[in-house]
Amino acid sequence: MEKLGHSELFFSDYRDYWYNRDFLDLMAKRWGLNRYSSMLDVGCGQCHWSRLLVPYLKAGAAVTGYDSDIKWAAGNEKIKQQFESASAQVSFVKGDAQDLPFENDSFDVVTCQTVLIHVENPLKALSEMKRVVKKNGIVICAEPNNLAGAVIKDSASKNDSLEEKLENLKYALLWEQGKINLKEGDNSFGDLLTGEMSKAGFTNIQSYISDKAIPLYPPYTNGEQIATIKSVELWEKEKATMIDIGRKYFEILGPEALKFYKDSNTKNVENKVLKLIKKHEYYSGGATIMYLVSGTK
Ligand SMILES: C[S@@+](CC[C@H](N)C(=O)[O-])C[C@H]1O[C@@H](n2cnc3c(N)ncnc32)[C@H](O)[C@@H]1O
Repeated sequence: MEKLGHSELFFSDYRDYWYNRDFLDLMAKRWGLNRYSSMLDVGCGQCHWSRLLVPYLKAGAAVTGYDSDIKWAAGNEKIKQQFESASAQVSFVKGDAQDLPFENDSFDVVTCQTVLIHVENPLKALSEMKRVVKKNGIVICAEPNNLAGAVIKDSASKNDSLEEKLENLKYALLWEQGKINLKEGDNSFGDLLTGEMSKAGFTNIQSYISDKAIPLYPPYTNGEQIATIKSVELWEKEKATMIDIGRKYFEILGPEALKFYKDSNTKNVENKVLKLIKKHEYYSGGATIMYLVSGTK
């Protein structure tokens, strides 16, 4: 069986539950999406993000999915049908977010979700997004702070000692720094997004935070809880891949960081959580920080 790549590990159905529907209704109104009929989804993956946005566009809208990974840039029938049932059409193009192969002023809406956290030069990507959006169109980026999770409590961590809490935070900080050093992006780029959009010359910049939380508590029966737990199970099942991904981020920071990684218990967190779920003793508030920043040119 083919080994799962990095993005497959994060493409399970839980992405369909990242927003409250009434929050998206409100955001679509703020962004004026019903005026628009073409959209470019940069770093589309399996189009979880553009599938959520497309019902707010004009009927018959044309969506272009764009990704550097041919697996996603080749598209697939299931995704095409999902767009068709929302009265839209989708086509796919392969390429780098930092170098878009489209003419100036090509799309009404240019958007991305959890993509700028993976690119070496997000300012270049933002400038490209600005170049290809039409005058009076809108660029919308949804990017997180992924560090906050390291200090958010749940029933698995509530009794951790001060040392364990510091270890969890150090683990997250080193992971993030190693990824930056390897030029694979900043996992908390969301914090910097508004400023970088301003640098890229956008006007009318607006920044919001998704109001969605996915609390987990027994008996874990609603759809979003089931999908979230499935993701944790996948990360535990694919632990060897997850550990490989992490190792290179610590390795680049030097032998001390690598030793810290090898010794750290933090990489066993999924296992700890799943054991508590099995006993119906796991609960969490389910908060995340997802920025939604828009700008026009
Ligand atoms: C975390 S996934 C997000 C996918 C999708 N936007 C979503 O929200 O479900 C990141 C995606 O960005 C793509 N990607 C990463 N770096 C890229 C780059 N430099 N140019 C274009 N796509 C890129 C990956 O292949 C992957 O599909």
